[in-house]
Order: sequence, then structure tokens, then C-alpha cells
Amino acid sequence: MVDQKLKGRVLFEKIGKPTRIVAPMVDQSELAWRVLSRRYGATLCYTPMFHAKLFATSEKYRKEMWCDLDGDTELDRPLVVQFCANDPEYLLEAAKLVEDKCDAVDLNLGCPQGIAKKGHYGSFLMEEWELIHKLIRTLHDNLKVPVTAKIRVFPEQQKTLDYAKMVLDAGAQFLTVHGRLREQKGQKTGLADWDIIKFLRKELPQDTVFFANGNILYPEDIERCSEYINCDAVMSAEGNLYNPGVFNVEHIGDKDKTFPRVDRLAREYFNIIKNECSESLASRKAMKSHFFKLLRPFLPHHTDIRANIAALNAKSSLDEWEQKVVIPVEETVRKIFEDPTIDDTVVTLEKQLWGGSYKTVPYWRCQPYFRPVNGVTADKRVVEELESKKRQAETPLEKEKEKELKLD
Ligand SMILES: Cc1cc2nc3c(=O)[nH]c(=O)nc-3n(C[C@H](O)[C@H](O)[C@H](O)COP(=O)(O)O)c2cc1C
Repeated sequence: MVDQKLKGRVLFEKIGKPTRIVAPMVDQSELAWRVLSRRYGATLCYTPMFHAKLFATSEKYRKEMWCDLDGDTELDRPLVVQFCANDPEYLLEAAKLVEDKCDAVDLNLGCPQGIAKKGHYGSFLMEEWELIHKLIRTLHDNLKVPVTAKIRVFPEQQKTLDYAKMVLDAGAQFLTVHGRLREQKGQKTGLADWDIIKFLRKELPQDTVFFANGNILYPEDIERCSEYINCDAVMSAEGNLYNPGVFNVEHIGDKDKTFPRVDRLAREYFNIIKNECSESLASRKAMKSHFFKLLRPFLPHHTDIRANIAALNAKSSLDEWEQKVVIPVEETVRKIFEDPTIDDTVVTLEKQLWGGSYKTVPYWRCQPYFRPVNGVTADKRVVEELESKKRQAETPLEKEKEKELKLD
């Protein structure tokens, strides 16, 4: 089977050389979200991580996560299905159940959450190279479709390079590198390290199909990332969740495509669920969380709609969702636009130390969200961190200069 299987670069070409990827996201990169994201420029999507053993053994779990429309050739391709696993047999059994409905199967080696520690998977396998090798090799040897992997990085460049080489040697045909350490999660997330991703790209065999992940806020960041790293494609998770328009790089400058109005996006997403993905339980379950994120900048101004979303759940009827959320959002934004004096411009601010620029976007448009920790939002934390690093880097030089002056 291995000989007949598509190798990385051939597979990449067969699926249309995608350059903008929706990341695997538990309970968030489900079918309806993928359909929406593709309409806004995503060219490859990953499913949420599925638990291989549960997927293989529990029909109930499978029905909650997967339906006949997932991986449909008209609606949902190209698609990579992601699993977490620590047992090669269960991983293979689970992967066999989807091999006819996807383009590749990915192994999650990045999940840093407590549940992954308890279940012994994701980034908590990072020290167990033999097991990882076996998991990947089992799929490589026995699955119809290629296997791929998504990793986090170690603090040491060389160790990360050896790790990546091992993953490729086991049979991974695409490698996604999320440039954060296992410890960088929750409040400690911080910036992803593009330099280590760039180093890996440079040092790994040049025909490796290589995806970079981390720090994408705006459509412009996608090109900046792929040029800096020289990767084949760029993957985004949070940037995509708060604004699917982040992938619309072919329409930079068109704010309706890159920072869509929340009323239009809420309607479009709702219609996808209602008309195209009604049989997807996962899509129904994820709806509440998606509405909260899509409408994130808008809800503090319209707390009645926020209360309506909070009161609904996956079992509420679609009619209720439409009446209590979608239509009120549409009516509210319509009223905003009735005022001829509103300022609907997107403003790009000055360039930052991280290489890109923040933007101010009207609150009725989708946009990145900067989570506050102890009252400081993530954008400000990043700026503070980089300025402090810059100061530290400059200090020795200045001391040297002072010394020279004294000598003179
Ligand atoms: C809500 C959410 C769910 C996630 N679930 C997964 C997952 O199932 N599998 C995975 O490999 N990574 C998962 N991640 C990590 C993302 O795929 C990605 O690696 C990380 O968020 C960094 O990308 P970003 O900076 O674009 O957010 C998740 C991230 C978020 C925000």
C-alpha cells in the first residue's frame, strides 16, 4: 500500500496546492464552519481533533462528531481528519473509518490541555519518540490515504529539528509546525516563534510539505508569514474563529470580504447550518460558541442579544436561533447603517515590533479579539513583551558604548 500512496508534494499538488488552512479546533472546525471558511478564502480545512479510541469504539461519539456530509466531495474538500491517539491499533481502526472521506489523516502532537495530559496524548507524547514513530508508521503502512502531523516546538532548536525529522521519517507527508512551546497555553499563550519555524523549514529536506501556524491576525499576516518562513501554507485557528475573512487575501482592501459585517456573516453561517449541514450534530453543537466569537466586538454594545445567545443551546430550535439572534443582529446593524454619519472605515495603525500592524475595525465588523489578562489585552501584552526584549537586547551594546566612551 505504501508504494501506491501519494507522497507529500504529489498529494499537495493533487489537492490544489492550498495556501490558507483552517486549523484543527476541538468543537470549532466542524463541517458548517469549514463550509463558511472556504467561502472566505480557506483552501484546506482540518477537522477538530477526534479521540481515536472513542471514534473507533463508540458509535455514539462518532455520530456526535461525524456525519455523511463530512468530507463530501462537493461540500467539504480538501479535508484532513485529525486524531489524537496513543495506541496504534485504535488509531488505525479510527482512521480506517474515514479514509474514504478525506485527503489525509493527521496526528495531533500539539494539544497542551490538561485533558491531553490525563489522556496521555497530544503534546504530552513529545518525549515519547518511539511511540510517535509507531503511531505515524502504522498509518503510513496501512491506510489508503497519507498521514500527516502537527507539532509544537521544544525550547531547543536542534532538538525540535531532530523531532521533526523523526516525524517525517515515520511517514508524515505534511508537517505543520505551531511555533509555541507546550507551556504556552491559556494566559501564557504569548507570541508564536516564527524564527524556530523558519529554522526548521530551512533545515528540513526542501521537498517537505511544510505548514506554519501561529500569530495570524489579519489577511496581510498570511503573506508576511509565508514569505518570512518560506512555507507552503499558513494555518490559522483563533484568527479564523473571530474573523473568517482573515483568509480572504485575494480581496485585501475590500472590507466586506476581509472584515465582513457581523449581520451578514451571522446570516450566512446560520443559513449554512440550516440548509446545507442540518444533519451535522457537531455543527449544531458548535453554533453557540461560534456566534459568541463572530459577534465578539458587537455584543458589549448590544447586551440584549448577548443574553439571548446565552439562553440558547444546541437543542434550541433553529427557528429560535433565527428569531432571537440572527434577525435581531440584522435589524440592529441595519439601524446603524441608517445613520449617514457613521464611520465605517478600517484603519491600519503604525507598524509594530512583531512586523505587522494592528487595525481599528468598526464593532459591527468581524475582527481579531485580544483577550485581557489582569486587565491588559493580548495586543498590549505582546507590544510590552517585545519592547522589553528589545531593551534587554540593546542594553549590553549600550554598556559597551559607555565603556568605550570612558576609555576615550
Ligand atoms: C478553540 C481551539 C481549539 C483547538 N483545538 C485543536 C485541535 O483539535 N487540534 C490541534 O492540533 N490544535 C488545536 N488547537 C490549536 C490550533 O490548531 C493552533 O495550533 C493554535 O491555536 C495556534 O494557532 P493560532 O495562533 O492561529 O490560534 C485549538 C485551538 C483553539 C483556539
